Amino acid sequence: MTATIMILNGPNLNLLGTREPDIYGAETLADIEAKVKTRAEALGVAIDFRQSNIEGELVTWIQDARTSAAGIVINAAAYTHTSIAIMDALKACGLPIIEVHMSNIHQRESFRHKSYVARVADGMICGLGSIGYELALEAVAARLSKD
Ligand code: DQA
Repeated sequence: MTATIMILNGPNLNLLGTREPDIYGAETLADIEAKVKTRAEALGVAIDFRQSNIEGELVTWIQDARTSAAGIVINAAAYTHTSIAIMDALKACGLPIIEVHMSNIHQRESFRHKSYVARVADGMICGLGSIGYELALEAVAARLSKD
C-alpha cells in the first residue's frame, strides 16, 4: 500500500507568492504543492497537502494523521513560535515529523528563533525556500523505508 505523508501549512502561507516576496519568493503554495507532488511520485509516496489559518484545525488534522498518514511534514508558520497545542498534538501522533520553514528563522527576529515544533520533530529544514518541502518529504520517505 502506498504510504501517505501529510504536509501541513499554517497561517498566512496561503498568501505565498504575494506575501513578502523578498523573504518568501514568488512561488505560490499551489506551485509548491505541484512540485512536492512530482517529487512524491518519484519517491513512490502519496501526499495530503493542506493549509489552514486556524490553530485548532491544524491540531485536528495532526490527530487525524494518526490513522490516515505515515508521516508529517509541517510548516506551522507563526504557530511554530507560539503553539503548545500543535506541539502536544505532534508529540501524541507517534509519526515521523520533519519541520520546514521557507526562511532561515535563526537569521530573523529573535521571537522566531524559538520553535515549539522543533522540540518534537525528528529534524528541521529552514532557509532553503520551497526546496525544503521536497527535502523534508524525502527525509520522511527515507525514515519509512528504513522501518
Ligand atoms: C515561516 C517562518 C515563520 O516565522 C513565519 O511566521 C511564517 C513562515 C517560514 O516558512 O519561513 O509565516 O514558517
